[in-house]
Amino acid sequence: MLETMAKRRSVRKFTTRDVEDEAILQLMESARLAPSGHNTQPWRFIVVRSGETKKALAKVSHGQTWMEGAPVFIVCVGDVRCRIKDGPDLAVNETSPHFGLKQVIRDTAIAVEHVVLEAEAMGLATCWVGWFDQEDVRSILGIPADKFVVAILPLGYPAEAPAARPRKRLEEIVMYERWGGVR
Ligand SMILES: Cc1cc2nc3c(=O)[nH]c(=O)nc-3n(C[C@H](O)[C@H](O)[C@H](O)COP(=O)(O)O)c2cc1C
Repeated sequence: MLETMAKRRSVRKFTTRDVEDEAILQLMESARLAPSGHNTQPWRFIVVRSGETKKALAKVSHGQTWMEGAPVFIVCVGDVRCRIKDGPDLAVNETSPHFGLKQVIRDTAIAVEHVVLEAEAMGLATCWVGWFDQEDVRSILGIPADKFVVAILPLGYPAEAPAARPRKRLEEIVMYERWGGVR
C-alpha cells in the first residue's frame, strides 16, 4: 500500500486511450468500500464522458483547460441529506456553517482518495480538482442545492510522470502524547 501511495502523482496529461466501463466500476467499488461516520456513506459519483460537459466543467474550474484532456471525469458529491434531514429549503455552499456538511465532506473525501489510490494501483492516473464554485458545477450537472461537490477527478492513462512534490518531514507533523510533545 505504501508503495502505491509513494508512486502516486497528480497527473494532468493523459493519453487518448479510453477508460473501460469495467475499470470505472472497479474504481467505484473502491469508493463504495470506504469508511464513514455512522456508516452514512454520503458519497455520490457522476461519471462524465461528454466532451461538451467536460469542457464546461473545466471552464468553471477557473479555466483549467488541462482537465479536458482526460477521457473521463468522476464528479464526487457529498449528499448533505445523509446528515441534515429537516428543512426542505436546505442549500449549501462554501460558506455554509452546518456541522453536518463538514461531516459529509470529511466522509466523501475518504472515498475520493480511495478512488485516487485504486486508480494508481490500476495503472490509471488522476488529479484532485477542488478549485471551482459549487453553484457553477451544480448548474452544469443538475445537482440539487442540498448536495456538495467535493472534487472533480479527471481520469485517464498517464501521459506524464511528474517528479514527487515535496512533503513535510515526519518530525514536523507527528507529536507524542500531547500537542507539541516530542519523543
Ligand atoms: C483537495 C485538493 C484539491 C486540489 N485541487 C487542485 C486543482 O484544482 N487543480 C490542480 O491542478 N491540482 C489540484 N490539486 C492537486 C495538488 O496540487 C497536489 O495534490 C499537490 O500539489 C501535491 O502533488 P502530488 O499530488 O503530485 O503529490 C488538489 C489536491 C487536493 C488534495
